Amino acid sequence: MDEKKVMLSGIQPSGDLHLGNYLGAIRNWGARAEEFDCYYFMADMHTITVRQEPAALRRRTLEQLAQYIACGLDPEKNTLFIQSHVHQHAELGWVLNCYTMFGELSRMTQFKDKAAKHAENINGGLFTYPALMAADILLYQPDFVPVGDDQKQHVELTRDVAQRFNGIYGDVFKVPEPYIPKTGARIMSLNAPDTKMSKSIPEGCVFLMEKPEDIQRKFKRAITDSDTENCVRYDPASKPGVANLMAIYSAVTGKTYEAIEAEFAGMGYGKFKPAVGDAVVEALRPIREEATRIMADKAYLESVYRAGAEKASYVAEKTLRKVYKKIGFVAR
Ligand code: TRP
Repeated sequence: MDEKKVMLSGIQPSGDLHLGNYLGAIRNWGARAEEFDCYYFMADMHTITVRQEPAALRRRTLEQLAQYIACGLDPEKNTLFIQSHVHQHAELGWVLNCYTMFGELSRMTQFKDKAAKHAENINGGLFTYPALMAADILLYQPDFVPVGDDQKQHVELTRDVAQRFNGIYGDVFKVPEPYIPKTGARIMSLNAPDTKMSKSIPEGCVFLMEKPEDIQRKFKRAITDSDTENCVRYDPASKPGVANLMAIYSAVTGKTYEAIEAEFAGMGYGKFKPAVGDAVVEALRPIREEATRIMADKAYLESVYRAGAEKASYVAEKTLRKVYKKIGFVAR
């Protein structure tokens, strides 16, 4: 076995990927495989804590896998799988439910938010979701769990549960660290540059699979700033809209802010915005084409998620056996 550190993350297939996901995170994942043994899974079991339309869930799960591959996550170098294909997640999830406290679960801010948003469906799964997430993680004994800010609390809880379990039964689980990547641009909404780009504000959000003309329209309507200067200059404090567009342009072209200022010297926002739109369209074109091609190749997709599930199950099963033995279940 190799000595690489293990990294694992789950992604809920509950919405379409966008430019913020790509430039902020996914784009850097491909290169990680050199340094880490990486597992990425589609967290389909987590999505049903809120109602899903079955056909849409199935389609989005596969689309997301296709898009990740198209963004450079090589299935030969990373273990890519679908959570529900690896039954050990549900099994360890149950066990960890019994080692996670009601009080701990009650303090999760995501639970409180989602319970407020879906008041008609505050189900048990929504409440115990962090125990399943702890199982997702601990099955693979990872060193690091790359997550966004909103998931840090769940990773902290996972550490507490792992330590509690280890305290009773000895060292069964590796206690993982959250991993906040150094690289990655923070992309803001095109029409509200003080909030992160997100699918909840679709007009300010550029989706990876969006048509070029729609992308262009969104950039042309992007908010610039209310100053009268009409000049492309990097000044995030007083010109957040322009700074965001410059960050996007820089991320997709590799140009520095000075180079961008020089390129658009003497030109106004009317020239700059469509230029950013063009650069984004060109950067996303190969991804869109590749994802479309992969989506159409069902046999290939199937071979990827099958191989991923096989590899993941092998690792997960080792941990689950150990857990069952420790807690006193009779071996079959
Ligand atoms: N809860 C995460 C989210 O909503 C998704 C997730 C599920 C996850 N299991 C995980 C992330 C394990 C990291 C590790 O985004």
